[in-house]
Amino acid sequence: MKNLVAPSLLSANFGDLKADMEMINRSSCDWLHIDIMDGVFVPNISFGFPVLKHVARLCRKPLDVHLMIVQPEKFLNEVKALGARSMNVHFEACTHLHRVVQQIKEAGMKAGVTLNPATPVAMLADIIDEVDIVMLMSVNPGFGGQQFIPHTVEKVRELRRMIDGRGAKALIEVDGGVNRQTGKMLVDAGVDVLVAGSAVFHAPDPEEEIRILKNL
Ligand code: DX5
Ligand code: ZN
Repeated sequence: MKNLVAPSLLSANFGDLKADMEMINRSSCDWLHIDIMDGVFVPNISFGFPVLKHVARLCRKPLDVHLMIVQPEKFLNEVKALGARSMNVHFEACTHLHRVVQQIKEAGMKAGVTLNPATPVAMLADIIDEVDIVMLMSVNPGFGGQQFIPHTVEKVRELRRMIDGRGAKALIEVDGGVNRQTGKMLVDAGVDVLVAGSAVFHAPDPEEEIRILKNL
């Protein structure tokens, strides 16, 4: 299967969101990745649901929501109301991760679990069969445009072994510092979904960049 590409809204031009959403709709990208931050779990705040309602109306691609917030389960209904395809919560932000994953699935969304760079893949051993997506952060979450942490490639290989060894179905997604070079290493290591913010939106031709990232 060819890898999927999910451009990250965080690097879009908020002064002209309509134009960027039209580009996304025309492009060959698979999902739109949406980063929600609370200034507590991560040292930054992005955008909230009143803004995202407009994004959801303008965007025809499935929405992949990444919650960088404490107690993400509190916002399950808001994420569902956006019509999101998937809801990604951080392993580090959920005391009762198993319950949260079940709640996301009961709400009719795909359940994603995200790991910070310092959290080992082995922490997922008891939940891997239940989740639809595992997302590995390849930067410390909170900001776009950061440098890729190379150790992520080794984590992808380990996660690939865990998923295939168990016959689990989870997709492997990587978020942070993804570009043509790092993307190629990740795809070779077994990644299914590449998230890319600045590499797409700051490219001279974003649609062409998406096409390249889909064909690494
Ligand atoms: C970082 C966010 C990412 C971010 C990636 O906390 O989760 O989705 O938009 O941006 P780039 O691709 O520029 O590293
Ligand atoms: Zn993200």
